Amino acid sequence: MDAIVLLKEDHQTVEKLFKEFGQAGDRAYKTKRKIADKVIEELTVHTWIEEKIFYPAARAAVPATTDHVLESVEEHHVVLWMLSELAGLDPEDERFDAKMTVLMENVRHHVEEEEKEWFPQVRSALGRNRLGELGGQLAAAKPDAPHDPLRVPSAHE
Ligand SMILES: [Fe+2]
Ligand SMILES: [Fe+2]
Repeated sequence: MDAIVLLKEDHQTVEKLFKEFGQAGDRAYKTKRKIADKVIEELTVHTWIEEKIFYPAARAAVPATTDHVLESVEEHHVVLWMLSELAGLDPEDERFDAKMTVLMENVRHHVEEEEKEWFPQVRSALGRNRLGELGGQLAAAKPDAPHDPLRVPSAHE
């Protein structure tokens, strides 16, 4: 599969979870816990494969994306720490919904920048064959990705 298509599908999966979270009742604590755990897993795996495989390949192929890549890594850093906090936060805590809301704002902003501002440049530079090859690498790396957000490299960079 094409690497950018794969990454955009991940974005959609996460957006769907965000919508479910938004629709969950205020006191639907079990549901909100389950959705948050799924978000933590999805985003940890996604940021991992981007940082290990896609970002380095993009930067190598299109040096002009370097600033975008570096900014994206900083955004991952913030998101990963928020995910690690959410993992240990009781959904009944008064800060839980607020933390999820700010996480969602950060992720939506990040996804928008990836999809609109710099993935298109990477697509033109890499071409179909190379994107297909990279997509295979991304898919193959998913099962090995950590589920602890703080094990993604940018969490400690
Ligand atoms: Fe990202
Ligand atoms: Fe992404």
